[in-house]
Amino acid sequence: MTRPPAHGMLEEGLARFDPGGGFFRPASRPGRDLGVLLLRTLASGGERRVLDLMAGCGVRALRYGLEAGATAVWANDADPERLPLLQENLAALPAGVAQRRSACQAHRLLADCLLRQERFELVDLDAFGCPTALVPLALEVLAFDGVLYLASTDGRSPTGHDRPAAIRSLGAAARAHPASWELALRLQIGVVARAAWALGRGIRPLFSFSEGRTFRTAIQLRRKPAAREEAQLGLLAHCHGCGEQWTQSLLQLRRWPPCRCGEPQGPPQEKPRPGAPCPALAVSGPLWLGPLQDPSRLASMAAVESAAVEAGSVPSLGQAGTRLWHALHRDAGVPARCWTAGDLGRHLGGGPPRLEALVAALRLDGWTAGLGGVMAGTFRSDAPWPRILELAARGTAADPAAR
Ligand SMILES: C[S@@+](CC[C@H](N)C(=O)[O-])C[C@H]1O[C@@H](n2cnc3c(N)ncnc32)[C@H](O)[C@@H]1O
Repeated sequence: MTRPPAHGMLEEGLARFDPGGGFFRPASRPGRDLGVLLLRTLASGGERRVLDLMAGCGVRALRYGLEAGATAVWANDADPERLPLLQENLAALPAGVAQRRSACQAHRLLADCLLRQERFELVDLDAFGCPTALVPLALEVLAFDGVLYLASTDGRSPTGHDRPAAIRSLGAAARAHPASWELALRLQIGVVARAAWALGRGIRPLFSFSEGRTFRTAIQLRRKPAAREEAQLGLLAHCHGCGEQWTQSLLQLRRWPPCRCGEPQGPPQEKPRPGAPCPALAVSGPLWLGPLQDPSRLASMAAVESAAVEAGSVPSLGQAGTRLWHALHRDAGVPARCWTAGDLGRHLGGGPPRLEALVAALRLDGWTAGLGGVMAGTFRSDAPWPRILELAARGTAADPAAR
């Protein structure tokens, strides 16, 4: 006998499901929407096998089967009390989709798949806390060019709030940084890159985002690393005194250049000895310095959505998902030096400047610059920080409304 849903039935995309108690978060829908579109772009015409390792009520598995053309869906959750809910929700999967449900610890399930050489085009690992321990096994069960869609809810370690925990869980230094969500994503991708390289594989981040609570990134595993892919692993330094930032690849480590703290006009704080590193420099890493988003993949995801909607399907992207898609599509995430408008305001001694005007001025000046897609109110550039401040000050002077 089917039990009545204790929390009412919900609808999301084409899925109608009982969320059960506890873990379902309606606000996480944009992440599920992007996952559905991503799967639609994978192995078109071929197999689309999905492993939903921490399925909760099974909404992701259900949507992969109903909206993304999954050929096989395996929904797993370690909590055996969730199994009846998974059974009921996944009963709505189309008959042609091969289905499995289980209540195993994720690492045991992955090890079992590995022993049986079972592979998936998409492994969705929507973890609580930091999923680092599961990453190597999750990569091993990916088919060629398969994607690991990874989530972490550990916001403290990768944002510099728990430095010992960051070393334990990420094998990296994590320091306070103005674009802290982006830093967390780069540290997470760095973990996946190192695990993939250890297997002789390469990676390509397809999209990465956060709302400050969960850090999600979809990473494609490639047969081998691209040329100089290792150069993308490095360190990101931020001077808490003057605001300067630098990056260095681990391939070419050298002394950090002097920042403005050493100059006479620097802020009133401890001045470094000539040649000594600035004491206000906070260095994070190793982390991923390369792109956070793959604009061409995001474009393909939008194209499959448009085609499906034109053909009369219910859209997979909700309003928040559409906003997220636009933000990610316009910013690939390089260079890794990223500041907030608030940082600029503080250093200029006024209100935050208009970032669009600053980005335009930086580009006119010959630098790479763009608005940040991961955190609203951020911008990135490869220009020297003093030049950024100079152009921002000019813009603020020319546009009193920006004060
Ligand atoms: C963030 S919730 C999943 C939410 C779901 N994916 C969604 O989109 O609504 C995490 C789930 O992982 C399960 N879980 C926690 N540790 C696990 C483990 N080691 N192996 C498998 N499942 C686990 C929990 O029971 C919980 O249901």
